[in-house]
Parts: sequence; C-alpha cells; structure tokens
Amino acid sequence: PPVIAGTRAELAELLVPHRAAGRRVGLVCTMGAMHEGHASLMRRTRLEIGPDAPLVVSLFVNPLQFGPNEDLARYPRTFDEDVALCAREGVDIVFAPTVDEVYPGGDPQVTVDPGPLAGVLEGKTRPGHYVGVLTVVAKLFGLVRPEVTVFGEKDYQQLALVRRMSGDLCLGVEVLGGETVREPDGLALSSRNRYLDPEQRQQAVALSRALRAAQEAGPEGYAAALAAAEKVLADAPGVDLDYVVVRAVDLAELDEDARGEARALVAAKVGTTRLIDNMPVVLGAP
Ligand code: PAJ
Repeated sequence: PPVIAGTRAELAELLVPHRAAGRRVGLVCTMGAMHEGHASLMRRTRLEIGPDAPLVVSLFVNPLQFGPNEDLARYPRTFDEDVALCAREGVDIVFAPTVDEVYPGGDPQVTVDPGPLAGVLEGKTRPGHYVGVLTVVAKLFGLVRPEVTVFGEKDYQQLALVRRMSGDLCLGVEVLGGETVREPDGLALSSRNRYLDPEQRQQAVALSRALRAAQEAGPEGYAAALAAAEKVLADAPGVDLDYVVVRAVDLAELDEDARGEARALVAAKVGTTRLIDNMPVVLGAP
C-alpha cells in the first residue's frame, strides 16, 4: 500500500531517497472520489517512469478552483476507497494535505494568470476556475517536483492550460494527456456522475452521443460536424446545454473550411450536475 503524506514536510522526506538515487518522479493530481479514469492516469504514469521510480498521487479538493455557487461543500470524499484504489495501482506515495497545509495563511496573494485560454468555454462559465486550478497545480509541481505528470483528456482545456503553464513558466514538467475512460454506453467517467439519479444517468449519455455524431459527420466538414452534435443535443430530454463547439486542437476557433484534426467539446447540466466531455474529430472536405 502507498505511504500517506499529510504534510509538505512528510512528502519532502519521503522523496529524498528517490532523488538521491536519481529516480524519475511521476505525479497524478486528483481531487479524490477516484474511479477508473484516475486509475488509467496512474498506470500511464507508471509506464513512463518505470517500475522502480516513485509514483505520487495528490488527493486534494482545492477550494480555490470552486466558484461560490459550485459544489465544494458536497464534493464527494471517499478517502479510504481512494487509498485502496491507489494501492491496487501500485502508487508509492499519496499526498493528502489539509487546506491549511496547502494554503497556510488563507488565500494566496500570488496566483497563476492562465491567460486568454481561460477566457473561453469552461473558463467563461466558471470565472476564476483556471486561476485556482493552475495555482494549485503549480504548488503541487513545486512540492513534488515531478519529471512527468499525466492529465486526463476528459478535462481537455485543463490539460491544454497545464501544458501551456509548464512551458510558458519553464516548470520543466513533462505534461502528458491520458485518454478518456468511459462507461460501456459512452458516458465519460466523472466523480460528479454519482450525483445523477437513474433517469439523469440515462439522459447524460446524450453528451457522448453528440460527440460521436460530430466524429461521424467530420468527413463532411466543420458545419456538418457541429450540426450533427447540435441535433443530438436539441432532441435530448433533461439536458440543459451550456456549449457545444468544434475547435482546433489548441482550442482556437475554426473556419467553415477547416480540415484535419479538431476537437468537439460539450458542456451541459443534467439536473443540477454540470457535465463536460470532448472527442477528437477529423474534418474533411466541406
Ligand atoms: P479530478 O477531477 O479529480 O481529476 C483528476 C485527473 O483525472 C484530471 O487530470 C482529469 O482530467 C482526470 N480524469 C477525470 N475523469 C477522467 C476520465 N473519465 N478518463 C481519464 N481521465 C480522467 O481535475 C482535477 O481533479 C483538478 O482540477 C486538479 C487537476 C486535481 C487540480 O485540483
């Protein structure tokens, strides 16, 4: 089973022998409520660093990235199950600090400005969210100093921003993307899926169905791909759409005649639960 570090000092001490031996440190950042998606990132990180290197998983529900009307207070906390999952995945260290340990003295004065990429899509609906995400990820990078980290493609904009931060701020962390793990019917695994009642759980499959429709219509071009996704969502009961878009892989807006690799992204509320998903789309001739 993994060793659990509750403080920055304990974490630092656990990493000393690994650093002395010159091992590559791998990090997976989570807010707990772990599922097969998190597990897949741990496996991917293990493959990158090798069998003898330390795999660190952080488990911290970061208040700084939740808006005032979001689900911080009711965010699922399943510590024992999370540690058991980490044990099954061969995690060496679980870093599970308190809020005080991460933010001694309350909210930080210095935070990470995520730049223009945080002004669109998720960032537009959730002001301040990516400041909170990048600030805590920068702190985790500072505390763990990993060589490599794997973030899920499920949170595509988050992955893009973390990559961008590591490059733009020369943090020296290799940021890899891990494929989205899905339920058999296509629903992307998410800690928030447990908020859905059985009817909403059925309705939620419209998100991945819309993205698949966009993928299938991709060869007919940008407009057809977007229209195909929109049609699925327009006909979907119980789905309160926030956005559905087809963007460049770097999330830039596309022209009607765009070709090649792109990304379809969707966000919607099912009941009071906000869900997001995305898939790759290859755009052909219009
Ligand atoms: P959390 O929602 O716990 O997600 C932790 C990591 O798991 C993220 O990289 C996320 O993209 C990935 N993930 C979630 N669902 C997935 C799925 N179905 N398939 C593959 N990967 C999946 O994202 C956060 O926490 C926080 O914002 C964090 C980065 C920890 C900063 O607080």
